[in-house]
Amino acid sequence: MEFYDVINSRRTVRDFENEEIPEEILEKIIAAAFKAPTNDHMRDWHYIIIRDKEVAASLLDIVPKGISDEDMNQLIRDWKLNDSLQQECYRNAVPKQYRMLFDASAIIVPLLKEKTDILHPENVSHLNGFASIWCSIENLFLAATAEGYGCNLRIPLGNEGEHAKKVLEIPDDYFMPCFIGIGRPRKGIEPVLQKEINVRDRIHWEKF
Ligand SMILES: Cc1cc2nc3c(=O)[nH]c(=O)nc-3n(C[C@H](O)[C@H](O)[C@H](O)COP(=O)(O)O)c2cc1C
Repeated sequence: MEFYDVINSRRTVRDFENEEIPEEILEKIIAAAFKAPTNDHMRDWHYIIIRDKEVAASLLDIVPKGISDEDMNQLIRDWKLNDSLQQECYRNAVPKQYRMLFDASAIIVPLLKEKTDILHPENVSHLNGFASIWCSIENLFLAATAEGYGCNLRIPLGNEGEHAKKVLEIPDDYFMPCFIGIGRPRKGIEPVLQKEINVRDRIHWEKF
């Protein structure tokens, strides 16, 4: 796939075909993740791949399996989601949080070595390791797209990070930025509309 075709066709995928991904493709995609820029030249990253549904069930057992209409409306009020298109994105995504991971061909858990207190940084540099793994995650998404697969991600809420550490036996000094679901995009599912951005409105020459 041509580079800009990959960029333009990557979308968050939350509905998958029931299909396995060959191990060598998973390895190729994760190798691409390791080509991302890194703050300290160490790339202290690990990726755990979970294909076993029993492990997936234990990992995800504290992720909500759905949401009532009432709670969804409350979430939209609490999070001050005033834009109607934005509301539609959340109405589509929130009920799928469990299924988009459990039904994925694999769950991928990225990890970075926590060398600074990511949740209590003293300055922006203390977030460099966190920023680097997100560059790596985007590479993974693009590589998956180039291979004909799709990904979603979930930011761990509440105790989900701690729970994942126990279930997956992750060493204490590693930090999990998100869960990733990967698989073949299910046919016939329309991607959620996103806000149109006129890039020229967002480019500033010489000063803002
Ligand atoms: C930092 C970050 C956090 C996100 N958190 C979640 C999440 O917790 N659950 C989810 O389903 N999607 C999550 N997403 C995916 C966004 O919903 C998605 O990228 C956005 O709607 C744009 O759609 P697109 O990826 O298809 O272009 C997150 C994306 C980013 C970059």
